[in-house]
Amino acid sequence: MRRVFLETYGCQMNVADSETMAGVLERAGMTLTDRPEDADAVILNTCAIREHAEQRVLGRLGDFARLKRLRPDLIVGVAGCMAQHLRARLLDQARVLDLVVGPDGYRRLPELLRRAAAGPVAEVRLDRDETYGDLEPRRASGVRAWITVQRGCDKFCTYCVVPYTRGRERSLPLADLIGQVRAAVAGGFREVVFLGQTVNSYHDGTHDFADLLRAADAVDGLARIRFTSPHPSDMGERVIAAIAGCDKVCPQVHLPLQSASDTVLRDMARSYTLAQYRDVVARLRAAVPGLALSTDIIVGFPGETEADFARTADYMREVRFDSAFLFKYSARPDTRAWRQAETVPEEEKGRRLERLIAQQHAISGAINDRLIGREVEVLVEGPARRGGGEGAAPGRGDGQLFGKSEHFKTVVFDDDGTKAGALRRVRVVGATPITLIGEAVAAPPPEPVLLRAGA
Ligand code: 5AD
Ligand code: SF4
Repeated sequence: MRRVFLETYGCQMNVADSETMAGVLERAGMTLTDRPEDADAVILNTCAIREHAEQRVLGRLGDFARLKRLRPDLIVGVAGCMAQHLRARLLDQARVLDLVVGPDGYRRLPELLRRAAAGPVAEVRLDRDETYGDLEPRRASGVRAWITVQRGCDKFCTYCVVPYTRGRERSLPLADLIGQVRAAVAGGFREVVFLGQTVNSYHDGTHDFADLLRAADAVDGLARIRFTSPHPSDMGERVIAAIAGCDKVCPQVHLPLQSASDTVLRDMARSYTLAQYRDVVARLRAAVPGLALSTDIIVGFPGETEADFARTADYMREVRFDSAFLFKYSARPDTRAWRQAETVPEEEKGRRLERLIAQQHAISGAINDRLIGREVEVLVEGPARRGGGEGAAPGRGDGQLFGKSEHFKTVVFDDDGTKAGALRRVRVVGATPITLIGEAVAAPPPEPVLLRAGA
């Protein structure tokens, strides 16, 4: 067992978990390969948040089933939330699988892979103490390091499978995390993104999320700090003051709303009302001028009436999010809402989703249009690519660079030789709802040479 192909689905937490797995595998003498054809084992790190996510993985498993028919000793594994969610059922149903490993089993991955060569293995115990805090991840290269600061979730929103797949909320010790930030900076990363299901409820027993932001802000060589996703109910004054007061914390917050109907929010067990959410937004915007705000919305939750939906659409016009991730409700086994009868037919969910997409598209476009003529600071990531995906330049590709502005908007501009990892001032000259088109402004004068006292 030497070469492992690891493919990641779902959220950034899964991407970070895959980096932890990659570190574990490499320390055990295994190597990662980019091609499943070259691998002794293939592992899919999976997501269970919506049914669609699971279906994509099942489709991909079909590819590996074909590969396994040609090479019967290929080990096929499923890791992550779907592994935890489906557990033994996966092993029974999909004959192709040799290994099922949940989010708390990655420390033992090399051993599990070896055992799987002898027969199917399932490791799906949740461990309320496992944080992987001592395991160095093998980070993909880039300018942005994703750092998991908290695992699991205790909120139990009624639609959400995460508390069941990732278990109870636990935070990593602040000192370990600051060590990870320093290591990331030493490895060339300029930005860190702190990850947690309700990241602003971070508490390691001594320090809270505000302490973590302030400690990271003091790390030399780090340019930017972001975090995702905070929960509105945990957005207290200390956290807001730290976001506002730390120079490196970007003026950008992703604050999931889910619905603007108090009835739906109650049925989702979100623990806030629209008035309380509005108040959090007002306090954030007052503390952080020019804050970019984005959100998550679910349409078609059981019981959502046309009037409930209209409240969400109305509030989104009022608050004007910079961007929004919009989802159709997907019933998930094990959750409380799973037992509720669905009341919104699939076509109606689709209609509501389309209406919000169109509305948000117009709002995002108008917000970005107003940036034309302004300067933004871009953390350059590299050459822009054509077509879809991050950094895609609309209509152009070659000869352009891309990066994110302080507001986490993708900016493309003509390649002026700026290296990845550098901060570049760019004037916005065009905009779409998802991308800003810019021109590098004349380079600032070189840093003054520091003269020694007395020189
Ligand atoms: N159906 C649809 N969307 C969901 N989300 C979480 N669970 C579900 C579900 N069962 C969405 C929420 C969350 C985001 C990560 O995914 O909006 O904030
Ligand atoms: Fe799921 Fe709610 Fe926890 Fe987010 S806060 S992970 S939506 S249960």
